[in-house]
Amino acid sequence: MQLLSFVLAGLLISRSDAFTERSWDDAYTLANAAVAQLTLDEKLGIVRGDGQLNANRRCVGETTAVARLGIPSFCYQDGPAGLRLVRNVTGFPTGINAASTFSRRLMRARGQALGEEWRGKGAHVFLGPAVDIMRNPKAGRGWESFGPDPYLNGEGAYETVTGVQSVGVQACIKHLIANNQEHWRYGLSANIDDRTMHEIYWYPFLRSIEAGVTSVMCAYNRLNGTSSCHNAGLLGPNGLLQKNGFKGYVVSDWGATHDSASDNANAGLDMEQPGDYIVIGGGVFSGLKAAVNSGSVTTDRLNQMVARILASWYRLGQDSGYPPLSFDTQNKDSTGPKNLRLNIRSAEHTALVREIASASAVLLKNNRSTTDGTPSGTTTRGLPVAASRIKTIAVVGQDAKLPNLNCNDLNECNDGTMSVGWGSGSNSLEFIVPPITAITSFVGTSATVTQSLSNDLNAGATAAAGKDVAFVFVNAMSGELGFYDTVVGNQGDRNDLDLWYKGGSLVERVAAVNNNTIVIVHSVGPVYMPWSTHPNITGIIYAGAPGEQTGPSIVDVLYGSYNPSGRLPFSIADNEAAYGTTIVYDSLGFPSIDYTEKLLLDYRYMDSQNTVPRFEFGFGLSYTTFSYSALSISTSGSSQVITFTVANTGAFAGTEKPQLYLTYPTSAGEPKKVLRGFEEVPLAVGASSSVTITLSERDISIWDTPSQTYVRPAGTFTVHVGASIKDIRLTGTF
Ligand SMILES: *[C@@H]1O[C@H](CO)[C@@H](O)[C@H](O)[C@H]1NC(C)=O
Ligand SMILES: *[C@@H]1O[C@H](CO)[C@@H](O)[C@H](O)[C@H]1NC(C)=O
Ligand SMILES: *[C@@H]1O[C@H](CO)[C@@H](O)[C@H](O)[C@H]1NC(C)=O
Ligand SMILES: *[C@@H]1O[C@H](CO)[C@@H](O)[C@H](O)[C@H]1NC(C)=O
Ligand SMILES: *[C@@H]1O[C@H](CO)[C@@H](O)[C@H](O)[C@H]1NC(C)=O
Repeated sequence: MQLLSFVLAGLLISRSDAFTERSWDDAYTLANAAVAQLTLDEKLGIVRGDGQLNANRRCVGETTAVARLGIPSFCYQDGPAGLRLVRNVTGFPTGINAASTFSRRLMRARGQALGEEWRGKGAHVFLGPAVDIMRNPKAGRGWESFGPDPYLNGEGAYETVTGVQSVGVQACIKHLIANNQEHWRYGLSANIDDRTMHEIYWYPFLRSIEAGVTSVMCAYNRLNGTSSCHNAGLLGPNGLLQKNGFKGYVVSDWGATHDSASDNANAGLDMEQPGDYIVIGGGVFSGLKAAVNSGSVTTDRLNQMVARILASWYRLGQDSGYPPLSFDTQNKDSTGPKNLRLNIRSAEHTALVREIASASAVLLKNNRSTTDGTPSGTTTRGLPVAASRIKTIAVVGQDAKLPNLNCNDLNECNDGTMSVGWGSGSNSLEFIVPPITAITSFVGTSATVTQSLSNDLNAGATAAAGKDVAFVFVNAMSGELGFYDTVVGNQGDRNDLDLWYKGGSLVERVAAVNNNTIVIVHSVGPVYMPWSTHPNITGIIYAGAPGEQTGPSIVDVLYGSYNPSGRLPFSIADNEAAYGTTIVYDSLGFPSIDYTEKLLLDYRYMDSQNTVPRFEFGFGLSYTTFSYSALSISTSGSSQVITFTVANTGAFAGTEKPQLYLTYPTSAGEPKKVLRGFEEVPLAVGASSSVTITLSERDISIWDTPSQTYVRPAGTFTVHVGASIKDIRLTGTF
């Protein structure tokens, strides 16, 4: 039984609908007993979706119920930043924003709140988290997961899975494996060497298994030439998942199956979704009955597929007291019996979404001046804005306004503020509060607000001239490859790393006429910021894709009720070459993409080239300052225990996010520095705190291909503790 209530994220979240979680052993005992009572057709209905083209389908994916045994139709729903295609739900911050918080507490709270909404609406499986590494910053779906660093992705995966499943909802980690670009994804081959695959792309899946994840989604693309969904090396009895203790089941991405039923079932695929053929593939399990009857798929294997699915359902106690399905994605505004019109939103979820959005805002620049020149004085220029002094405000940019709420089901417009990317990972904008609304409501009659809510350069400059402050909102977006659609010329992956709609020019035009220009960037990933050193730009906030409470959360940061503590989960460089990877846009047929950069993504590659990015991985300012001291390193069993002290030396209460980077002995062949730890340290003015980060044996090992295990290299390791990959404050060795 779960606890009824506990304090999380500073909020009291009460949990009234307790459920019984079971051990895998108990779950399999129940599952095998159920399998023994099922007919062949009933089994086939559980391992195969009931059809994309099925008019009765209510979730994005479903299975066929076996009413006589109390087995419902299982409901699969997108994911991963809020229920898509459902009304009266919350639009959560994206995965990349969860990563920007560098806070396990908020990652887990986000997972739990997502789980509560899935459960509340009666959906069994949360299609997420996504953990595809941001191999190239233009990758269309990079924002759904936790960035280019495997350790940060692994922690995001672990905490999200734990949070979602803590309320009895199945998580479905995706996409196994190397779904790293949208162009050609339905068949490209990612060719990855064994060590790179383990240390980078596989690592977040491993952490999900350690969190007890119940399901995994196999990807559209191929790995080393073999389709992910019939790749026995990933899915089979001797494949990676099962070798690492995975006890749940594998479901295909929608239409990711090819070839025959036996190819897929015998390789280890347990469920096909959506079940029918959908242009890109799918429908292979329509041949499963014949395959079982002919013996090319054994009855034992079919039973095992069903058992894995049912065991996951029993494991999280979904067989008893689970709320009924209360929505209909094919008709989300209907008043019929399929849509119970339940409002699953809550004040707690809204507050949490606002907190995560504020906590993920990264303060990149702050040229603050104060009335008396001291840090505790009242701000005259820069941040936090002093409402007592700033009486005329310009709000400039299309990104500040309300988007078209009737865009389409995939959010493929970007015609207002950008709070989430497009595609199946988009979420509900129904309750979005855009920046302009939040700013005008916050200032009330205490200041005048002049608006120019387009990217018209002249209008923006006119609005900004002579005002005490100009807030310029600019954005860049990306999303999932559609069948036909492109969004402003982008087919999923971004075409470049520029701000959209001449956002950079807008910033420059405003800065030319206003010496207190504050730029807010809403983006799915890195964007070029050649203007960042402009002397009239006194503040820059990278706010990512923060979800529906975007407006209130940015007001909290701008006006200082939330001291920024977000950190960049990637580097922001001045050219794409600095990242060392590319997106393959043009190809004669499905391309074969060799991951020749191996372990060197993002800051790891930049370090190897001695490239200094404009803003580096892990970077983010605060309104206060922090000092670091007293590093000590000791050994405990096979672990290394690192302790140090962080103190708040500035004029505001604030939260530091100290990071630990490790340098391996040269012989290990690792990048110069790799992230291996981070913490969240809230500190009052003048306060200090001792921080402990423990490195496990695996954290200080490398993947050894010959032995197929993690091996700790011999030699001296260097520990770097600091405020970013470049801002190292303490160094020691072991
Ligand atoms: C992919 O193929 C290469 C070359 O044959 C091999 O070295 C590598 O280990 C393979 N990767 C995986 C994940 O099987
Ligand atoms: C949304 O919730 C409200 C109650 O807060 C209810 O009146 C309305 O019918 C619901 N709409 C849908 C489509 O669920
Ligand atoms: C402006 O702030 C940046 C960092 O935020 C700092 O590097 C720079 O020196 C500041 N410039 C001035 C004129 O204060
Ligand atoms: C900024 O511009 C204002 C007029 O808009 C002027 O009064 C002020 O002196 C300027 N401040 C600086 C530091 O340039
Ligand atoms: C900064 O803004 C002032 C107006 O406040 C303007 O006169 C000046 O030219 C701007 N500086 C630059 C470098 O654009």
